[in-house]
This record gives sequence, C-alpha cells and structure tokens, in this order.
Amino acid sequence: MAAARAVRLRAHADYSGFKVGAALELPDGTIVVGCNIENATYGLTLCAERVALVKALSDGQTTFTRIAVVADTQAPTPPCGPCRQLLWEYCGDIEVIMANLKGPTGRHRLSALLPLPFDHRLLK
Ligand code: THU
Repeated sequence: MAAARAVRLRAHADYSGFKVGAALELPDGTIVVGCNIENATYGLTLCAERVALVKALSDGQTTFTRIAVVADTQAPTPPCGPCRQLLWEYCGDIEVIMANLKGPTGRHRLSALLPLPFDHRLLK
C-alpha cells in the first residue's frame, strides 16, 4: 500500500483529477508499481493497474501474488473491468487490496471481482 501510495503521486491525471497508484507484488516480495496515465483523447487512458502489469510482464515476470490499488477516496477503488480481465489472465486469482491515503478500504480475491471469466480455457 505504501508503494502504491507513493507512485500515485506520479499519476498523469490532469483530465479526471483522479490519481491512482498500483503496486503489484511478485512471490519474492519484489514490487512493481504503476500510476494512471491520461491523455487528451481520454479513451487512451492507461489505468494504474495495467501500467504496473505491463511493466512487470515486459521485465519478464510471470507470477504474481497480490496487487494494491490506492486512490484518495472514502470508498474503495476497485479495478475497472478491462483491468480485471488482464489481471486474471496474467496473474490468476491474486489478492486485490484497495486503500485510500489512510489505510485499507477493501480486500478481495480477483475471482470474486471477476466471476465467470472468459479466459484461455474457453478457447478450445
Ligand atoms: N483508474 C485507475 O487507474 N484505476 C482504477 O482502478 C480506476 C480508475 C483511473 C483511470 C482514469 O485515469 C481515472 O482513474 C478516472 O477514471
């Protein structure tokens, strides 16, 4: 959560004003961070979770244990639908920890956030 809180400050979120930080943990405890990156077309926005994920994947990492997502909100900030799909595909049933600047606001398995997923098992 501390790593996600810190990287959140690097978010490029001038359009929404909604800064998000994510920290993806590997089995050895290494943390790969990401923040949301917006742009003038809006639709090309990259969520913090996906930035962390693609950084880790492009570094050659393939196994993950959990992800923390931090925003400055009272309510938990759960990953959006596309991020859930990508996290499921590349991380499996990891733990998703949501937090605000004060502390945790929610904790779920990814399978609870993405029931009945479409994935490689169905591509037969
Ligand atoms: N956002 C994330 O980065 N992660 C989330 O889990 C929710 C939403 C970003 C996308 C956009 O830059 C801003 O928050 C508002 O939707």
